[in-house]
Amino acid sequence: MKLSALSGDWDDLRPFLPPRTPWRMSGIGLTAFLGGLTESLILVLVTLTADSLIRQQETISAGPLTLSRSQAVGLAVLLVVGRVSMTTISARMAARFASMVMRRAQHGLVTAYLASSHPGRSSRQVGDLSAVTVNHGRFTADLANAYTMVATGVCGLIAFGGTSIAVSPLATLVIALLGGALLLALRPLRSRSKRAAKDFADTARELSTEITEVETLHREIEVFNAAGPVGDALGTSVDQSSSRYERVRFLATAVPQVFQAAMLGAAVLSLFLVVNNPEAVDLASIGAVVLLLIRSMSAAQQLVMANQRVIEFSAYARTLGGLIDDLDAAQDHFGEERPPTLLPLHLEGVRFTYDGSTEVLDGLDVEIRAGDLVGVVGPSGAGKSTLVELLLRLRTPTGGVILTGSTASDKVAPDEFARRVAFVPQHPALITGTVAENVAFFRDVGDERVRAALRLAHLLDEVEALPDGIHTRLGADDRALSGGQRQRLTIARALAGDPEVVVLDEPTSALDAISEEAIRRTLDELREDRVVIVVAHRYSTLRSCSRILVLRDGRLEADASPQEVARHSEFFQAMVGDASA
Ligand SMILES: Nc1ncnc2c1ncn2[C@@H]1O[C@H](COP(=O)(O)OP(=O)(O)O)[C@@H](O)[C@H]1O
Ligand SMILES: [Mg+2]
Repeated sequence: MKLSALSGDWDDLRPFLPPRTPWRMSGIGLTAFLGGLTESLILVLVTLTADSLIRQQETISAGPLTLSRSQAVGLAVLLVVGRVSMTTISARMAARFASMVMRRAQHGLVTAYLASSHPGRSSRQVGDLSAVTVNHGRFTADLANAYTMVATGVCGLIAFGGTSIAVSPLATLVIALLGGALLLALRPLRSRSKRAAKDFADTARELSTEITEVETLHREIEVFNAAGPVGDALGTSVDQSSSRYERVRFLATAVPQVFQAAMLGAAVLSLFLVVNNPEAVDLASIGAVVLLLIRSMSAAQQLVMANQRVIEFSAYARTLGGLIDDLDAAQDHFGEERPPTLLPLHLEGVRFTYDGSTEVLDGLDVEIRAGDLVGVVGPSGAGKSTLVELLLRLRTPTGGVILTGSTASDKVAPDEFARRVAFVPQHPALITGTVAENVAFFRDVGDERVRAALRLAHLLDEVEALPDGIHTRLGADDRALSGGQRQRLTIARALAGDPEVVVLDEPTSALDAISEEAIRRTLDELREDRVVIVVAHRYSTLRSCSRILVLRDGRLEADASPQEVARHSEFFQAMVGDASA
């Protein structure tokens, strides 16, 4: 076994290795070696005992020892107990090692995802993170396991081979030479196996994101009667995935078996040599060598199989590590300042481009003071949501600066910023948990604050009418609440931290009139010593705004009171006209 060939793949595993890995591996190897040695001694004892029976001798001489037959059997029993203990300890350590690698790979990926910046996270396809965490995490652990198989295989080979050398150096030498030659001959298969494994890992990952898409769109698929073509497309992907799997499995099974068959030939050849060697014609030695060589062969076969598994699984570890690297490369670098207030908000020449060429925001200059309730309107694609993400620091302006108070927005400490700036998305997303947990959203918010936030969001009465009040459990896509109630819940979530700035991106675009009116009242009541910025396209939501910004093609077309904007902005006139029509 060429260990240098395995070291490249070891690098794929390196980021996930637990502390004291060399010690762990040595422990696994040592117990495997001791186990192999114990088993070798058992085999030698058995052949010597059989030999003594055939020769009708009363004693057995094993090296310096002379034993009675029953002593030999007693010793063999003791050795069996030792063998079982060693195997158990080795297996326990190997399982622990692999599970630690799995924990580090999966936790490392999820942590990297959470620590990455919004652009880094949102450039990934939905479903990819879960596919890679679960599948690739598991197979990275299998890679670790393959390496422990390498360690136990090598140590077993040394134990059996060493004993075999002690019994008959010649036969062992022949076997070792043939084994080495065979491994060299099998090398081209290695790169083929490697490619097959990588192809399969990639296909499995794509298949998984396709399936996530089907799950997300299951309603549309039925409504648009697309189940047939979608099923066909999935079938094609499944076919591709399974034919690639077939290749991987074939190589993984065939290579060790071809190797084993060839090694068997080598063993027969060496036996022939032993038999034809005058001083080695000794029944006990022949018996012991045959048994030891068979055991050496299975250790060698385990090595070849472990090598195949290393090839098969290293692709997964590499992909997982690569994803972590990508996520790590996309990091926000915020400051540590804690200004007394984040108001007023001041946008100075703010620009943004996603692709480096099209300016989605093309030099915005706006000042927003405490007490402002600012409506943002504009046609679809005007850059409203992009502006929202810049205000939330989810993205960084590619030009200009956003001042929060007298401090550049990106200089404010993350926890401070999170406490003072809140967000209500267009589509409310709930977590599985109680109403109170949904409002608190992993922050330290007590029941009283939860109730106050629900009251502000005009939702408290409806929540208290639920079976367990604010402790009623909700699912992620809970039908117990209407769309409007869910949206008001996310408004309560935004208000629970008592923020200075509340940003809402089309919160009322899909709501019933009663919920919309409740939200409008909330916004109106909130504005006092805060800033509320709401992207909306319904006049009913906008009418209590103190200012309206009209955004068009990344530029401010108007920034004035609703009445004034209504007089001058064609877009606004059209929008209001639509609303009143
Ligand atoms: N993640 C993104 N990557 C590339 N382009 C984007 C991305 N998000 C939005 N855009 C583009 O930026 C422009 C403004 O989008 P957006 O801010 O969502 O507009 P609005 O919310 O006003 O409809 C659009 O042309 C849109 O295609
Ligand atoms: Mg938008």
